[in-house]
Amino acid sequence: MKTKKWLDKFGCIVEGTPGELLNGQVNPAEVLGLIEKYGVVLFRGFNASVENFKDFGDSFPVRFGPYGGGARHRPNITPDGTVFGASTGTHYICLHGEMYHHKNPPDLLWFHCELPSLEGGKTTLADGEEFTNELSPRLRALFEENRVKYNFVTPKEVWKASKPDLSAIELLEAIKGTPESDLISVLPDESLSYEYVTSVFSSRNEKAYVNMVANCLQDNHKYATAGRPPVVFENDNVIGPEVIEELFAVERRIIEEIVWETGDFAILDNHRMMHGRSAFSGPRKVCSRISYGLET
Ligand SMILES: [Fe+2]
Repeated sequence: MKTKKWLDKFGCIVEGTPGELLNGQVNPAEVLGLIEKYGVVLFRGFNASVENFKDFGDSFPVRFGPYGGGARHRPNITPDGTVFGASTGTHYICLHGEMYHHKNPPDLLWFHCELPSLEGGKTTLADGEEFTNELSPRLRALFEENRVKYNFVTPKEVWKASKPDLSAIELLEAIKGTPESDLISVLPDESLSYEYVTSVFSSRNEKAYVNMVANCLQDNHKYATAGRPPVVFENDNVIGPEVIEELFAVERRIIEEIVWETGDFAILDNHRMMHGRSAFSGPRKVCSRISYGLET
């Protein structure tokens, strides 16, 4: 397996030739070691198809899951739902930890590029530990002393569309025992409220600023319900514009990019790295997977 350092701060590139992926020359255990050390690994030169990308991922001792919890639709690329399209739209998406507004975010995030856009459409990256170090002492202390609360409301007509035969109470009963069921409650109008309080620093790596705060507020128009912001401080204080402004300033200072080439794919540590996307125009085909755990 031929590897080289990628960026100054993080990242590693595994270089290969077409077909090399399929004959066992790239060792999953070795790749997992690289992800742990470098945060993100980019595979270049393998000319991987979506099928190659899926088969390679399936050879890892991890569990792949479907996408859940986003504000935008993600079309399934494979029938099993473990390979899905990028967030729809062509807009800029600020840095975030994937599904970090949920209790159990994935451990690894996988991307594959079938068709890079001609203009923009880079996957952006930043190291959460560097992000923490770039926060002003004031904001860092504010976040260290105050957890944040994500709150999403799913209107009755939305959840009823997929579960027409259940009442809200029956639906709660049906999901009882799942890791997030205790975070969901029924509102008087039978909307479902999901409320999750957590630190902005990863519970798996407390030195790393990894969360969905800026992303949720950027997407306010999609997430907000009943005029409430989708994320506030635990004590219900609003996360003010000066905080958001500083977060975007840090992002601009430390951001790096994956400039995709056809057949590239990448795997990143979702508890250390944050990712996003630059705006683009024209066609672009980038798909992703999320995985949990390490079955050893
Ligand atoms: Fe994402």
